[in-house]
Amino acid sequence: MVGLVKRWLRRGFLQLMSAAFLSIQAGGAALALSNGVCRRGNGSGRVHDYPTGAAVEVRHLSFSVASKRGGVLPILKDCSFRVPPGQLWMLLGPNGCGKSTLLKILAGLLKPTEGTLHVTRPKSFVFQNPDHQVVMPTVEADVAFGLGKFDLTLDEVRSRVSKALEAVGMLKYSQRPIHTLSGGQKQRVAIAGALAEACKVLLLDELTTFLDEHDQLGVIDAVKSCVSCTREVAALWVTHRLEELKYADGAIYMEDGRILKHGDVPSIIDFLKKHQARYIESIDI
Ligand SMILES: Nc1ncnc2c1ncn2[C@@H]1O[C@H](COP(=O)(O)OP(=O)(O)OP(=O)(O)O)[C@@H](O)[C@H]1O
Ligand SMILES: [Mg+2]
Repeated sequence: MVGLVKRWLRRGFLQLMSAAFLSIQAGGAALALSNGVCRRGNGSGRVHDYPTGAAVEVRHLSFSVASKRGGVLPILKDCSFRVPPGQLWMLLGPNGCGKSTLLKILAGLLKPTEGTLHVTRPKSFVFQNPDHQVVMPTVEADVAFGLGKFDLTLDEVRSRVSKALEAVGMLKYSQRPIHTLSGGQKQRVAIAGALAEACKVLLLDELTTFLDEHDQLGVIDAVKSCVSCTREVAALWVTHRLEELKYADGAIYMEDGRILKHGDVPSIIDFLKKHQARYIESIDI
């Protein structure tokens, strides 16, 4: 009973946060996108089937907000890229270029103004601050929390929780109180929660910002191993840390709302060295 009340409270809390977030981000105009289908974001929210082998596919996607003077402020401009299943892709670019906005659109938290997109379901958005996503008292309870919406036996729940914790290297911490974990360990618990729900796309926004070097490595290792072991999960990882590129299968480089380059890691590094020296100098690596 206590568990049920906690679950209800948390769900209510998250819905409240999400509603507040949506209204702040897009004047209340955002709506959740269906995965497995693609919407043409022309404001009317039309939905059509969009068969694709990609885990994430974005075509000619734009996003604008109303400016204070009553005009239109473009944030994302004609963005196109795809991420195959079983791959970890990085999303790079200077502050304010639109990385988080793009991720929020993929998560269904914002609605595009134009263009089409596909994100395989289920998907999960993991936030930057580790304290914003783990709220249950223990590791095991937190990973099991999201499974309440499925019709699973206790054994099935236990099995999913163990496998997910193992995938992120946190199985030995399953009984630990959440407040005793480091930031990186909390991030890994949040990722385990997504994996336990059989998440197919992980959307990860600057997870390593608040973490020390040891925790940064732990989180990115966990994501890389989830993605490459199952070959089913895809991850899109926003970062400023170019050294994290060595874990990636591909990358996307943005500036001022546009994708300037996307492709395999050597081609991105080559592009950055030749054309974006100022970006490389501007980040502390
Ligand atoms: N609702 C909004 N209203 C007005 N401007 C917005 C809105 N949402 C985002 N922006 C602007 O869009 C741009 C892109 O923001 P976004 O947060 O996506 O950038 P980012 O690449 O994630 O930056 P950072 O690296 O600092 O996290 C910024 O200039 C931001 O101020
Ligand atoms: Mg951001």
